Order: sequence, then C-alpha cells, then structure tokens
Amino acid sequence: MAPEHRGEADPLQARLAAAEKLARRAGTKARAFFLDRDTLHPISKSDSQDLVSEADRGIEAWLRRQIARQFPLDGIVGEEEATTEGSSGFVWVIDPIDGTMPFLVGQPNWTVSIGLARDGEPVAGAIHAPMLRETYTAAAGGGARLNGHPLAMNLDWNVASTTIGFGATQKASPQEAGAFVEALYREGGVLFRVGSGALMLAYVAANRLAGYYDPTLHCWDCWAGIVLIREAGGVATFDGDFGNPGPIWAGNRQVHDTLRRLSGAAA
Ligand code: IPD
Ligand code: CA
Ligand code: CA
Repeated sequence: MAPEHRGEADPLQARLAAAEKLARRAGTKARAFFLDRDTLHPISKSDSQDLVSEADRGIEAWLRRQIARQFPLDGIVGEEEATTEGSSGFVWVIDPIDGTMPFLVGQPNWTVSIGLARDGEPVAGAIHAPMLRETYTAAAGGGARLNGHPLAMNLDWNVASTTIGFGATQKASPQEAGAFVEALYREGGVLFRVGSGALMLAYVAANRLAGYYDPTLHCWDCWAGIVLIREAGGVATFDGDFGNPGPIWAGNRQVHDTLRRLSGAAA
C-alpha cells in the first residue's frame, strides 16, 4: 500500500462510502433549492441551454469543502470551480447538479454525480437522484447497485431492443447530430433524452435504456456512470479527459459497438 494510504482499511471502499453519503447530503441540499427554484438567478455560461445558478455553485463549494476535510491529499475536478491538485493518486470528479436545465424548469430528472479516479482510471462512482429516490453506486471489482440492489446489464440487447439515450446539446455539430439520428432510426433505434448524462448512464446500467451516446460530454457528467456501466457488465468508452470534453458510448458490447459505428467513430 502506498505510504499516503497507510492506516486506511481500504482506501477505495472508504471513498465509495464517503461519495455515497456526500451525494445523498448534497442531494438534500439541491432538493431544497429545487423546491424553491423560482428564487434562483440562473445565468448562461456558454449558450442559452448551458445554465448555472447559485444552487450549482453552492453545492459544488460544499462538496469540495467536505472532500478536502475528509481526504486532504485527494485532487478534485468539478464543473463549477478550478481543479484542486492532489498527491494521493485519487481524484474526485464531481458534478453538483447534472441536469441543470431539467432542475431549473421543474423536471425531477437531475442528479448529483460523484466519480473517483485512481491513477487516472475510473474506479468508483455514486449518482443520486433525489426526486426519484434513487442512488446508484459502483466500485471497481465490487459490482454496481441501485438502492443497494445489484445491477446486471442485459447482454442480448441490440440498439432496436429498447430506447437509446442521446445527449447532444447545442455544442454538438447539427450535421453530426442529424446524421446519428438518421442512422439510428435506419437501424430500428428510437431516441430518449432526460438532460442528465449521469442519469442516462445509470439507466443503461439498470436496463432502462439499451445504450447511450453523447458527442460532447465532460468528465464530471460521466465519470461515475462509466464505473456503473462497467461494473454492471457493460462497455463504456469516453474519448475526453479531465481537461477536455469528448464523446461517450455505452451499452452492452454489441450496442456500444453499433453506437460507435452509427456515430461515425473508428471501430
Ligand atoms: C449536461 C447534461 C446533459 C448533457 C450535457 C451536459 P449539466 O450537464 O449532462 O445531459 O447532454 O452535455 O453539459 O450542464 O446539466 O451539468
Ligand atoms: Ca453535467
Ligand atoms: Ca452540472
């Protein structure tokens, strides 16, 4: 065990337990903002559908304080503040509210997403959907769970078996988004979108969607979800990193590969 982790029973399990607790507590705070959302002052960050409010900023600041107090040597990458460098090899990858648009307009489909990287690899995640009363958790080698119940992805599905999550925002090229939708419908697929990449990945892990594709996702949108997918027996590929957004494909092996093909990605 690395010297910085001596004395910790199991550094990954300790962080997964903390991530789950923090996601729930942050969710309670977010829910209070949600129920009083008419008093918020959202502003646009990059385009008319990329918004931020004092709820996003306040909850990320709170999460950062909690993480720094409990794991002072860990790094933190989050949506609303600059990266905190760490020295433990662990990095927390956090989105205080994934699905800010649904949150602001009163839809229940938004989440708190807390992922963990160890030496750059996704190793744990907790996604909490307060209004849906759902908490998804996963850690490398330990399986994926929804409210404590193990998740196992359907390995027989193809893209036409049930709906496919598609996350394209205004950042996506209209031509590429249109081409993907046309290609998917030609293959017998149908679209689904809830405005939270984390929730769509969780839905894939829970067999509520056959797969998910987003041409431009940030690490904080998908880090926890990637662990969920892999631990539920599926495949997720993310071509972004901590500093850059990128496309993500997720599903069972067959669906993942088909989504890559339909989006024009290299095999
Ligand atoms: C967004 C959601 C959405 C995805 C966008 C993200 P935000 O995150 O995950 O589903 O399509 O690319 O930016 O801004 O609501 O945290
Ligand atoms: Ca997000
Ligand atoms: Ca967010």
